[in-house]
Amino acid sequence: MTDQVIGRKPAHATIEYFDDQHPPLGDFMRDVVDGLSATPRSIPPVYFYDQAGSALFDQITELPEYYVTRTELDLLESISDELSLRAGPGAVVIEPGSGSSVKIRTLLDALGDAAAYVGLDISKQHLVEACEELARDYPDVAIGAVCANFTTGLKLDHLPLPEGRRLVFFPGSTIGNFEPAEARAVLAGFRTGMRKGDAVLIGADRVKDEQILVDAYDDAAGVTAAFNLNLLKRIRAELGAQLNTDDFAHKSIWNRDLERIEMHLVAKRDTSIELNGERYVFEAGDSLHTENSHKFTPESFATLAKDAGYTLVKHWSDPAELFSLYWLEPKWEA
Ligand SMILES: C[S@@+](CC[C@H](N)C(=O)[O-])C[C@H]1O[C@@H](n2cnc3c(N)ncnc32)[C@H](O)[C@@H]1O
Repeated sequence: MTDQVIGRKPAHATIEYFDDQHPPLGDFMRDVVDGLSATPRSIPPVYFYDQAGSALFDQITELPEYYVTRTELDLLESISDELSLRAGPGAVVIEPGSGSSVKIRTLLDALGDAAAYVGLDISKQHLVEACEELARDYPDVAIGAVCANFTTGLKLDHLPLPEGRRLVFFPGSTIGNFEPAEARAVLAGFRTGMRKGDAVLIGADRVKDEQILVDAYDDAAGVTAAFNLNLLKRIRAELGAQLNTDDFAHKSIWNRDLERIEMHLVAKRDTSIELNGERYVFEAGDSLHTENSHKFTPESFATLAKDAGYTLVKHWSDPAELFSLYWLEPKWEA
């Protein structure tokens, strides 16, 4: 059920609307219980992003080892003229998983005359703050915030969006956090918010040297470790679990066969997590799998795009071929 859009304002110095689609959050307990009961144990990465997790992710993006953000930003800047031509005047940019809405600034600068921006994220407070800040800095762009889960399609019909080409912007290689079948479904779901002529601009990290990848997810300053361990803090604070975060260590592993980085929380000693009347025992070395970050070759990404119902129109990479951006257009029935 979608709330009525409220608070539309004539000037753009603040956000035009906040649309709360009430993504179900009550599943945290169920997902953690299911994940701790499964073999192997795992928890979906969406739960990383409470206020503290979002702030830690922002710190990660500035780490020397984490080449992803700066490479993608440089790449966006280097192709800005072409992006502006492709998007055309008065584009409406929609960003699922907008987070701090940082990269969008580079895209809005590149486009020059975007008419509107929709930040869409599951982390409500962070979303609204980020969109408010963006609205102050881009008074000529009509900015709105939508609290929703982007894995269930984009529900945009009720929003006061201008008529320009809709450009779904999905940077940060967030698509890599999903298993291949889920990634196809997420991409296919974006089409629910698109019309003929619209496009997706998506950033995807590339398969590369193993050490570069492992270091990017296990930095010397320990910020990624804190990000990973924050999940246990949330489980303790919000679900009332009894656990000792010091009993777990962060680990990043390159899974060559599945072409993905895996993040794990590994028990340093025999320990347990008590939750909802159950005791989940961890022996030293046992793992709780917390995130996958799939990496792509241009060929594997082209297959994903095609299987999700898109034509891959153009692909760009940085000179070191660390990261790629792709322009996709939905295939429509004739
Ligand atoms: C890795 S951050 C990316 C932020 C930004 N787009 C960037 O590239 O810098 C992922 C963001 O997606 C949001 N997110 C993750 N899963 C989501 C979901 N299923 N629905 C909506 N937002 C989600 C998180 O709250 C977080 O802000």
